[in-house]
Amino acid sequence: MTTITQTSRLGDRTVRRIGFGAMQLAGPWVLGPPQDPDAARAVLRRAVELGVNHIDTAQPYGPDVVNELIAEVLHPYPDDLVIATKVGGARDAEGGWIRASRPEQLRATVEQDLRSLRLEHIDLVNMRFGVGGPEPDTIPLAEQLGALTDLRDEGKLDLIGLSTTSADVIKAALETTPIAEVQNAFSIANRTDEPVVDLCREHGIAYVPYYPLGSAFTGGPKALAADPSIASVAAKHNASASQIALAWLLAHYDRMLLIPGTSSVAHLEENLAVDSIQLDAEDLTALDHVTHLGAPSF
Ligand SMILES: NC(=O)c1ccc[n+]([C@@H]2O[C@H](COP(=O)([O-])OP(=O)(O)OC[C@H]3O[C@@H](n4cnc5c(N)ncnc54)[C@H](OP(=O)(O)O)[C@@H]3O)[C@@H](O)[C@H]2O)c1
Repeated sequence: MTTITQTSRLGDRTVRRIGFGAMQLAGPWVLGPPQDPDAARAVLRRAVELGVNHIDTAQPYGPDVVNELIAEVLHPYPDDLVIATKVGGARDAEGGWIRASRPEQLRATVEQDLRSLRLEHIDLVNMRFGVGGPEPDTIPLAEQLGALTDLRDEGKLDLIGLSTTSADVIKAALETTPIAEVQNAFSIANRTDEPVVDLCREHGIAYVPYYPLGSAFTGGPKALAADPSIASVAAKHNASASQIALAWLLAHYDRMLLIPGTSSVAHLEENLAVDSIQLDAEDLTALDHVTHLGAPSF
């Protein structure tokens, strides 16, 4: 039996291991207001009621829409709430994702996050690489991290994370600054990032998988439910396939922090019940046979 801890460390903070990713609270294509604003408000309220104290968001979600919703519903924030954002991308006039990774753009995004979230400082800011296309970023890593460490020195952020990144970049970054989290795509059905999870284990860095239920681009929760190995373990635990996928992540690394996104209170409640599911060795062996659905090519 793998005993699942309910909390873990994110930098110097202790957070519940199941948090909330707020991206699904914007409108379609993560643009504009949610289709049902009251439902979006209800999800945020219920998340905190149920003990979520780690929320992941970003200025380009909406843009600004999701941050403003979070502030409207939760400000003044509970003392123990950790809000994480990401910089490196922006939206153009048509809503397309564009790179915004020059030092002055990173600063401008943090300033905008502070305004829309009504914060004096942000708990954690992830440097998100690769927005706006696969071409390598021409801005040197040292300049990007320098912008974030300057903002940290000015008291505008506390912790620095890295997102959509590689082992080599993490190792290079660690020579400059502590890294509180790595946020990459990873799930039971997309384990290509396993070497980076290993590196995080080695350095005691929190690993925060995005698309923890498999991305909508690769079938999402429906594809998980169609996998016979997940379905059999789910039946044994009287749980849903999504719950087993999240429980597998919790069992995989004790500093794995989940931020499953949902626009539904029912799904939120289902996701938060996962830390009571204890997978045994037989379950974990069965789940090693899950079909690899591949990394989303977003
Ligand atoms: N760093 C990055 O580049 C990056 C990229 C993407 C995301 N993120 C962050 O990572 C978070 C997590 O990603 P995500 O989970 O939102 O990505 P996702 O895989 O695109 O979305 C999750 C999907 O699963 C559904 N869902 C959630 N819980 C469910 C359940 N219990 N049963 C069935 N369906 C369920 C949601 O639909 P319903 O709304 O219907 O529940 C949604 O369609 C995001 O919210 C965002 O904060 C970061």
